[in-house]
Amino acid sequence: MRPALTRLLAAVLLAAASSASASEAGLRLEPALVNRLDVESLQRGARNFVNYCLGCHGAQYMRYNRLTDLGLTDSQIKDNLMFATDKIGSTMTAPISRGDGTAWFGAPPPDLSVESRIRGADWLFSYLLAFYRDDQSTTGWNNLVFPRVAMPHVLWNLSGTQKLVETEYDDQEKAEAAAIAVKGLALVEPAKGGKWVVKMVAPGTPGTLSAVEYKTFVADLVNYLDYMAEPVRNERINIGIVVLIYLGVLFAFAYALKRNYWKDVH
Ligand code: HEC
Repeated sequence: MRPALTRLLAAVLLAAASSASASEAGLRLEPALVNRLDVESLQRGARNFVNYCLGCHGAQYMRYNRLTDLGLTDSQIKDNLMFATDKIGSTMTAPISRGDGTAWFGAPPPDLSVESRIRGADWLFSYLLAFYRDDQSTTGWNNLVFPRVAMPHVLWNLSGTQKLVETEYDDQEKAEAAAIAVKGLALVEPAKGGKWVVKMVAPGTPGTLSAVEYKTFVADLVNYLDYMAEPVRNERINIGIVVLIYLGVLFAFAYALKRNYWKDVH
């Protein structure tokens, strides 16, 4: 029993440690500006998702009618969000198969139902801000957060293009300091000749949205992806608050009762 327990504890600690450093070494993510209690942001995120992602990625654990959670009515969902099916109870399946995805892109677009549980909101937010032009790649795009990703930058009309900027430093310490100073997305990597390089993205040609508008667009989308990974989480938080209030009131009564019982003893 003992060694088994120790092993379990070690496994839990190891998992905690590795999730703390989940992002690849040297990568500094941009924190996601999301608020899962903001229903309007979630509605916009759902719209962004069906318009720009559902063409390739499915969300097989999410049903359209679950979106009533977000304050949408069945007819709003049908009119504005359902392009792939006519049944409100259907799951959000992608129109392309895994085989086609692999054949067309070189890698299948994965299901995004629980993507946020796997990668985390900060990773997703950074990933959607990290596409840059790269003539060497098949799609013409590359990504600072997911190097050589097979996904094209499907939002480039909105975001405009970005280019990669690399700065070389003599040692790792200087490079890390420079990456921190960026206060955003940056990747620190060893370079040739014992040097270190800091990679970041810089604006190229503008898109239809300004940089701030694009970030809001992506934040809404990530907010939705995060909601979709655990739709009942808001409910869980609310139940938790009610339970704590209940326990607080119970504590007050229990304490008053205890004082009453013991008052003759002391
Ligand atoms: C044209 C098809 C296409 C569209 C549209 C598309 N993707 Fe992708 N996406 C892909 C492919 C292909 C991959 C697999 C990339 C790889 O493994 O290299 C991918 C990978 C991803 C990944 C990384 C998954 C992982 O953890 O490995 C995320 C996150 C993602 N897409 C999010 C989105 C979001 C959000 C949208 C909507 C804005 C979107 N994608 C739209 C094709 C697409």
